Amino acid sequence: MLSEVLLVSAPGKVILHGEHAVVHGKVALAVALNLRTFLRLQPHSNGKVDLNLPNIGIQRAWDVAKLQMLDTSFLKQGDVTALTPEQMEKLKEVAGFPEDCADHEHLAVLSFLYLYLSICQSQRWTEESLELINKWAFQGERVIHGNPSGVDNAVSTWGGALRYQQGKISSLKRPPALKILLTNTKVPRSTKALVAGVRSRLLKFPEIVAPLLTSIDAISLECERLLGEMAAAPAPEHYLVLEELIDMNQHHLNALGVGHASLDRLCQVTMAHGLHSKLTGAGGGGCGITLLRPDLEQPEVEAMKQALTSCGFDCWETSIGAPGVSVHTAASLDPPVWQALDGL
Ligand code: PMV
Repeated sequence: MLSEVLLVSAPGKVILHGEHAVVHGKVALAVALNLRTFLRLQPHSNGKVDLNLPNIGIQRAWDVAKLQMLDTSFLKQGDVTALTPEQMEKLKEVAGFPEDCADHEHLAVLSFLYLYLSICQSQRWTEESLELINKWAFQGERVIHGNPSGVDNAVSTWGGALRYQQGKISSLKRPPALKILLTNTKVPRSTKALVAGVRSRLLKFPEIVAPLLTSIDAISLECERLLGEMAAAPAPEHYLVLEELIDMNQHHLNALGVGHASLDRLCQVTMAHGLHSKLTGAGGGGCGITLLRPDLEQPEVEAMKQALTSCGFDCWETSIGAPGVSVHTAASLDPPVWQALDGL
């Protein structure tokens, strides 16, 4: 079924502008990062396919020969947007699960089996497969967030830089190659609780909070316009405006109640180096982004990274606009990436 090592990867993503506002129908700008998560599919000589998900304690194995003999035509039947109860039943049968299993661990195994069988059928992803991947990722988001906007799964699936509003997605034509520093404050938070907090603040103070959301929408639109201008002819002034937008949005997000002392610290430390930061995603801790202007000298970036690391944060220098979910062969990967995956 699988004759060589197959690697599937998806990019990390950040929301440049529009987090939280996007949940209320406003525009968000999201970009895929050149930081990827890999799934390694590797042939075994024992004739089995092993699934190892160490984080949730799952280890399963199936006979490849048995999987090969399966009639997988049931996977192609019906609407690709949702598995039918009959397809779910078949998958449970293949997995050897009881019919009534519904917990996350069993569902994770079924998701794997479904994706495995589908990927092995075709190694070139069509637009339809990407739509399906996006929908599966959205279902995963729903398990975790409750009521996600859909922006996160969309940008990880299609990559690049996206404008997202109420399920409508458009790609920015030629996003400029912005460099950013992604910093993880390592402060845990619940997206679900933070989104609920913004909603209750909006209900409590509609006259105050609705204009904040409208203003965030305007920031996203202005950033989109600017990125378009930069694609044609980037100039140092553009970066100054991007920095102003970052500052304004960060203040708005604080006013929405999704800031955190760790994110304030991140903004202060980067500001001491003349750079501007904002939270990205749900806030309340989590990650922040810092715009790295092209005029920056590397020693300055290193000094800032050092200062952030001393606060207990993790940082990665990266760039925006990476490809979306992709299939790779071992030979097509950069040797260091392959070595890291091989050592797992
Ligand atoms: O940090 P994340 O991936 O949980 O981002 C959440 C982004 C929100 O706008 C706050 C929620 C959403 O579903 O869009």
